[in-house]
Amino acid sequence: MIMPEATDPFFEPYDRADIAYGMTPSSAVQAYLDQVILGGGAKGQGVDGQRAALDGQIAALDLGAGAGRDTLALARAGYNVTAVDLSRRGLERIEQRAEKAGLLSQITTLAADVRKLEMTPRQYDAIVATTVLDHIPADDAEKVWRRMTEALSDQGFLFAEVHTTEDPGCDQQPGCESDAPVSETAGAVVNYFSPNQLAMWATAENSALRILHYEERLEWDYTHGPEHLHGKAILLAVRRGHHPEWYGQPPAFPRKRG
Ligand SMILES: C[S@@+](CC[C@H](N)C(=O)[O-])C[C@H]1O[C@@H](n2cnc3c(N)ncnc32)[C@H](O)[C@@H]1O
Repeated sequence: MIMPEATDPFFEPYDRADIAYGMTPSSAVQAYLDQVILGGGAKGQGVDGQRAALDGQIAALDLGAGAGRDTLALARAGYNVTAVDLSRRGLERIEQRAEKAGLLSQITTLAADVRKLEMTPRQYDAIVATTVLDHIPADDAEKVWRRMTEALSDQGFLFAEVHTTEDPGCDQQPGCESDAPVSETAGAVVNYFSPNQLAMWATAENSALRILHYEERLEWDYTHGPEHLHGKAILLAVRRGHHPEWYGQPPAFPRKRG
């Protein structure tokens, strides 16, 4: 069911001419796409190699896609992307942006609740969930996380970003003790992640994931509303046994070329 305008907390942020969250994709996602999918690396993979390895098509899922900054980055890198969100206005903005960029044929928008989304094991070569697991209750988030990890293909990558208890919008310590400005959309965050939580999910005994990058940080946000601070955790992972040419973000000692 599409969320009606009246009950969509993100309608107004996505309706602005200056669309909330901007167009810059999550930096770890773009870094992975640049290095592993588009860059080619020493093994000469690149998007053509990946396509061949995956027998034709590469499919991505963007959960809580918003107005599509990550969806569009994935499409630009060659993925066929399913963008899922409750916000009809967000999905409309994705379609507008995709049409303008000539990427519409690679993008399917789906108005749905991520908690109800069916995912087939190993269905997706990229799964992105940028600040959505924190917009649903903790029990649901864990179930969606499990489905996401099962739906990841052998050569795919998974990215998740969540608000943490360090966020000044959080009602727990240490965030609640901060006097830094709080996001205008903080009311939609219902599940702040505790320190290490996302990393622990990814490294649990029954997890099939290998972490490429994990970070907890504070960051200033200028992409919507008055400037404000966020506490965030980000995780980039692949399946255990998959070893793409990932040099890090930023690469520690990048190769000098030319
Ligand atoms: C903070 S925004 C992030 C948007 C986008 N991922 C980005 O980083 O630009 C959170 C998004 O999650 C969506 N959302 C929240 N709960 C959801 C749910 N249960 N199912 C699908 N989308 C949801 C909201 O509509 C909103 O677009």
